[in-house]
Amino acid sequence: MQIGPYKLRNKMVLAPMAGVTDRPFRQLCKTLGAGLAVSEMVSSNAALWGSKQTLRRMNHEGELAPRSVQIAGADPDMMSAAARFNVERGAQIIDINMGCPAKKVCNLMAGSALLQDEGLVERILVSVVSAVDAPVTLKIRTGWDPENRNAVTIARIAEQSGIQALAVHGRTRACAYRGEAEYRTIREVKQAVSIPVIANGDITGPEKAQLVLEQTGADAVMVGRAAQGRPWIFREIEHYMSTGKLLPEPGVEEIHTIMINHLQNLYAFYGEYTGVRVARKHIGWYSKGRRDAADFRQRVNRVETSQAQLAMTHEFFDALGAASGLAA
Ligand SMILES: Cc1cc2nc3c(=O)[nH]c(=O)nc-3n(C[C@H](O)[C@H](O)[C@H](O)COP(=O)(O)O)c2cc1C
Repeated sequence: MQIGPYKLRNKMVLAPMAGVTDRPFRQLCKTLGAGLAVSEMVSSNAALWGSKQTLRRMNHEGELAPRSVQIAGADPDMMSAAARFNVERGAQIIDINMGCPAKKVCNLMAGSALLQDEGLVERILVSVVSAVDAPVTLKIRTGWDPENRNAVTIARIAEQSGIQALAVHGRTRACAYRGEAEYRTIREVKQAVSIPVIANGDITGPEKAQLVLEQTGADAVMVGRAAQGRPWIFREIEHYMSTGKLLPEPGVEEIHTIMINHLQNLYAFYGEYTGVRVARKHIGWYSKGRRDAADFRQRVNRVETSQAQLAMTHEFFDALGAASGLAA
């Protein structure tokens, strides 16, 4: 799949997730096979650009190309200024968020709320595309609510405005995360435009990824929640797509190594205090469903230092490894 001058090495994209797809997690997913990883959204409100959080979101040091940054907002001039600002700081692709149902975003008439106002959508897209040389992509839901599924109209507007790829989450804004994603509308979008289309929603593993590609005819799949605590999902999907065979789950030892490296990268990126706190949710995801995980999480969530967090994580995985050795 091609986005402007960037040829992606495969058909797998890590979805933007606020609070999750920070630089360490994007880098990890890219290393484990994601062809593209979209950043957490950056507000188009310039008053926030000096904040620690936004500066961190704009930090791409050492990140594998192409670097895609998502921007959110509803004012065409502010959005184009945000696009320019991020390109100056290393973004190679600008992604526009019209897919997020979060109250914080929708109340400001941004995210998926924008889908209601097609004229405004067009003004934002034209403005951002003309503001930067970098390719601009768009992420949408299938519509505002099930009675107003206007994804095909939005997709045509996007193509005419110069958008270079379109990600579609198979739910409406009103559906939030309820029910199951539907792929029929994504197929209609794919048939209506000639820019690359990325299918998103409820892709939980390699077989589902393949099925969604077949059902929609999309150029790539985008994975969000299923990558939490399972960044190797991209490697698994890639293997399945190229061989038709399922890779076995990584062994305890490999998961242990991946997780410790991930934690260390979080401490380096956020510093000790915030790093330990951000790491807690990843520890929860990695350990979910494993032996004695609930007890481990309860204990590890109480520690305040990276040293103690690492020591407990080592202990947990050593015990898991010993148990799996016994089982074998
Ligand atoms: C914790 C979380 C944060 C998210 N933040 C964003 C965001 O900042 N921008 C966006 O476009 N979508 C955001 N999303 C939506 C995802 O990108 C994706 O469209 C959605 O989770 C469906 O894909 P999935 O079923 O693979 O998770 C977020 C989702 C989650 C779970």
